[in-house]
Amino acid sequence: MDLVFSFFLTEHVEEALRIHQQCLPMPWSEKLFQEALKDKNNIGFSALIEDDLSGFIIGRKIQEEAEILTLVVDESQQGRGVGTKLLHHFLAHLKQQHIKKIFLEVKASNTPAMKLYESFGFRKIGRRENYYTELKGHSRTAEVLEKSFF
Ligand SMILES: CC(C)(COP(=O)(O)OP(=O)(O)OC[C@H]1O[C@@H](n2cnc3c(N)ncnc32)[C@H](O)[C@@H]1OP(=O)(O)O)[C@@H](O)C(=O)NCCC(=O)NCCS
Repeated sequence: MDLVFSFFLTEHVEEALRIHQQCLPMPWSEKLFQEALKDKNNIGFSALIEDDLSGFIIGRKIQEEAEILTLVVDESQQGRGVGTKLLHHFLAHLKQQHIKKIFLEVKASNTPAMKLYESFGFRKIGRRENYYTELKGHSRTAEVLEKSFF
């Protein structure tokens, strides 16, 4: 599998919408992707296989801290290391930018994502009940995770 990274670009939005709708109960709208692209504090990377978007990560930098806003891998490519490589690429970039801490919120019941983040040294620092208010009939609890660079 030849995986190539690029910055997350406008030309990736159409596929990103499809992947979000396929994978997430609360997918982003096109407007949200376009706004994320315009925001100078944001940084995103796409993972491409033969020019097709297989996954992407978008985060926000604020001074010496950062937050992961979304990380998602096309269902047909999951379990093949794409998420690991995207996260590794993103964290390496943040380290170069002298970011000291990185945060994210993840659904407490999302075992694949929790395992992935914990394998990178993220640790639980808080729990938010009823965080995902739009989710009906599902667990709405979020874990807040943090990783520090030393
Ligand atoms: C979470 C996600 C990004 C992982 O991407 P991926 O490319 O499938 O992950 P990888 O193949 O790199 O696997 C990384 C680790 O994740 C965990 N993992 C991945 N799929 C898993 C599954 N089905 N069950 C349990 N753990 C799983 C494992 O710990 C795995 O490491 P291992 O293979 O050494 O055991 C992907 O499952 C996804 O897009 N999920 C839907 C969107 C989402 O939940 N995003 C995170 C919200 S913040």
